[in-house]
Amino acid sequence: MTEHAAGADAGKAWSGRFSEPVTELVKRYTASVFFDRRMALQDIRGSLAHARMLAKQAIISAADLAAIERGMAQIQGEIERGEFNWNLDDEDVHLNIEKRLTALVGDAGKRLHTGRSRNDQVATDIRLWLRDTLDTLDGLLADYMRALLVLAEQHAETPLPGFTHLQVAQPVTFGHHLLAYVEMAGRDRSRVRDCRARMNRLPLGAAALAGTTFPIDREFVARELGFDGVCENSLDAVSDRDFAIEFASVASLIMVHVSRFSEELILWMSPRVGFIDIADRFCTGSSIMPQKKNPDVPELARGKSGRVFGHLMGLLTLMKGQPLAYNKDNQEDKEPIFDTADTLIDTLRIFADMATGIRVKPEAMAAALKQGYATATDLADYLVKKGLPFRDAHEAVAQAVRAAEKRGCDLPEFTLTELQVFSPLIDDDVFGVLTVAGSLAARDHIGGTAPAQVKAAIARIRAAL
Ligand code: ARG
Repeated sequence: MTEHAAGADAGKAWSGRFSEPVTELVKRYTASVFFDRRMALQDIRGSLAHARMLAKQAIISAADLAAIERGMAQIQGEIERGEFNWNLDDEDVHLNIEKRLTALVGDAGKRLHTGRSRNDQVATDIRLWLRDTLDTLDGLLADYMRALLVLAEQHAETPLPGFTHLQVAQPVTFGHHLLAYVEMAGRDRSRVRDCRARMNRLPLGAAALAGTTFPIDREFVARELGFDGVCENSLDAVSDRDFAIEFASVASLIMVHVSRFSEELILWMSPRVGFIDIADRFCTGSSIMPQKKNPDVPELARGKSGRVFGHLMGLLTLMKGQPLAYNKDNQEDKEPIFDTADTLIDTLRIFADMATGIRVKPEAMAAALKQGYATATDLADYLVKKGLPFRDAHEAVAQAVRAAEKRGCDLPEFTLTELQVFSPLIDDDVFGVLTVAGSLAARDHIGGTAPAQVKAAIARIRAAL
């Protein structure tokens, strides 16, 4: 045995230059295996691609490659069956797997790390892991959009008060309202794809920070792993985690949108509003108040958005003070990334499912529409079309609303003679304009709330999905 074996951690991959072992606390503090083992399959994939390249370049022998492939197949089986013995002493996922490989296949296992460092290895693993996650999110966003489209189609003609400042503004259809969230999810999806495209470059080959003296073929490894190209600066390749920050930022925006929708669901389900009911399987009761049915799922989603924003802030802060190149700080990127992914995947799954469990109450929406002079703008537009300048029309309708308020009625409840007091331009064709159905149908252009436009939008989005 070499001399360090007497005092230092003889078993560690890097213990050769140390004269005493780390304390138990330091071992636990610096280890990452209990969370980075989630990247085990990506680690194996990356190692196999690296080994194939080493053999192709005659840096290791064909026999070594065969031994590595055999060993890795066994390790992958052990991991998948839950039989792999993860060991804190071996610090992280990379060293755990390498050590097991060496135990299984001997010297070939020890040759795997030729021309490579854990620095470029971990940067590769995390990109592979995130790439899979982004593909999952892409699919889940599409499912969520499809579920919203079904509900939107059922309610392409159902009137709902549209709000600004949370005050009744103008009639919209419930379908149109839902399509706003579909648009947001569509942009979220394109951000997921942008993030994937920028992330999809291979760090491997950067080695510790400066590249390697071996005649490696990085393009080959990139192709093996499905990367679109290689990271072109070795220092940048091992050190930057901007892709993780970008992922957290894309995730944060998804949660912003989910949280806004949640806020509306909660409000709509409140008995004071009563626009919808959410199926029992997404709600829970109170342990003290027997009458309660609470919208826990949307409330939790609104709350979990805070946790995802926190991860974004954590990752930004993690990166900002780091000099080039790799620093151990970067090990702290894993838990926020994993937690962000878990939160997003569960949330989107549950929301796609919950959208099918929303029961709409059109009577409550219609009753609310009667209370806010929702067609006042239509009356003003009507007067403009009869030749009145818009500002004067606005003033005339404001007077009508004041009078209606005093009487406690809605605008269509005035008689024609009563309405003509506010403007002599008003004729009996005004009543077509003052109804909710008339107001909706009149907004008949792309992006408008007319039922025909809502149905056309649904068809367009479906075709693009
Ligand atoms: N576990 C480490 C991480 O997650 C792997 C890279 C460690 N490299 C090193 N030189 N200590 O970042």
